[in-house]
Amino acid sequence: MPDVYPTIVQVINVIKCYLTRFICGLFRPVALKASRVNSKSERSWVSSLTNKRILLGVTGSIAAYKSAELVRRLSDAGATVQVVMTDAAQAFVTPFTLQTLSGRAVHTALMDAEAEATMGHIEQARWADLIVVAPASANFIAKLAAGRSDDLLSALCLASQAPLAVAPAMNQQMWLNEATQANVASLASRGVKLFGPAAGEQACGEVGPGRMLEPAQIVEMSAALFETGQLAGRRVLITAGPTQEDIDPVRYLSNRSSGKMGFALAAAAVEAGAQVTLISGPVALPTPERVTRIDVRSAEDMLAAVQSNLDGQEIVIAAAAVADYRPLQVATQKIKKQAGSAQLSLEQTPDILEAIAADKGGLFVVGFAAETEHLEENARLKLEKKSLDMIAANRVGSAQGGFDNDENALKVLWPTGGAALPMQPKEKLARALIEMIAERFDAKNPTKNS
Ligand SMILES: Cc1cc2nc3c(=O)[nH]c(=O)nc-3n(C[C@H](O)[C@H](O)[C@H](O)COP(=O)(O)O)c2cc1C
Repeated sequence: MPDVYPTIVQVINVIKCYLTRFICGLFRPVALKASRVNSKSERSWVSSLTNKRILLGVTGSIAAYKSAELVRRLSDAGATVQVVMTDAAQAFVTPFTLQTLSGRAVHTALMDAEAEATMGHIEQARWADLIVVAPASANFIAKLAAGRSDDLLSALCLASQAPLAVAPAMNQQMWLNEATQANVASLASRGVKLFGPAAGEQACGEVGPGRMLEPAQIVEMSAALFETGQLAGRRVLITAGPTQEDIDPVRYLSNRSSGKMGFALAAAAVEAGAQVTLISGPVALPTPERVTRIDVRSAEDMLAAVQSNLDGQEIVIAAAAVADYRPLQVATQKIKKQAGSAQLSLEQTPDILEAIAADKGGLFVVGFAAETEHLEENARLKLEKKSLDMIAANRVGSAQGGFDNDENALKVLWPTGGAALPMQPKEKLARALIEMIAERFDAKNPTKNS
């Protein structure tokens, strides 16, 4: 019996082990499902972070360990996160951890020849849609207030036009110190957003204000910065993409429009608070969240879809590259290859913009002009000829910008003026254009805004 006893104990342990694994296995899907539901419901309020470029600055506070969760949550919300750490921050959390979670090499040094050769500090500053410094140490807040730039993060904050938010994290005496309060007030007066701090028990054992907000709150507040409300309650119809004009059952005439600009405008209009209907030609793009999408193929289909959805709209943005011509006749069978050249007779397609503008009433109509030459001249002619409220002209046919590119530049004209939007990612450009549209719309409809 004494010989057998250890064996029995071993067998019982093995059974216990398998039972535990089995029970854990039974509950794992429930736990996973719960976490998925949680992240999905969070995603619905943070959807304005989708595709946003967030530069996350991490400074030397004990709260730096929370940055790891912040990176994960921002990424889960669809943002691309570029982490930049101060020297002190690296004593609290390693760049390797944040690099693994963000999927991008963490930047730490200003005088880094390699980084400057790939993406220099000014480019990094331009890249960001938003800079969030979390945690922001008392020292870093003082540096920002003084406008110093003796490390990478402070240089980026100074060189960027992107909105800047800081989430202070420090001992309560440090926070309450007059110097810190004066620095914070100075930042706030310059438009820097303050996320927190919260009050409560601190890492040092004291109780009071100075705790960094929780990562989920920082994500929510970051998302809210993109929800501008400039088009709150407005109904906006946007056309996007190319059209396809059939030649025969397998061939068509089309153009190189990718639809990216129109889709970015739809996402930006939603962020600005509008109710958006997007009528799109054939493109390979996902529908932006909270957008009603109607897919069409030809110019004729697009016109019909626009006309049946025009009722109640307040703004129309015609960003689609509608074909000007279509085959006079569509062959019912595939056209066979024959000796010699072939002729294709074309007729004009319906002019959608003209049809909208002809009977626009109080509608605010924005057209797009894609030109290879005399950009401004041709765009102003189109603005006047079609009685548009605004036209966004872009140069096409060059390597940079225009069709099928992620970046573009626009010359925006309206009857009494104009402005240039420089080369930038289409998402950023769309936000700037939506802001201009909202301003011109409000100027045209002062009573609607009061
Ligand atoms: C253990 C420890 C914890 C610290 N925690 C904080 C903190 O929470 N907030 C803060 O402002 N400074 C804190 N400091 C001081 C900063 O790390 C110090 O001011 C540093 O110079 C900040 O550099 P940076 O702003 O360039 O990141 C702490 C220092 C130590 C040693």
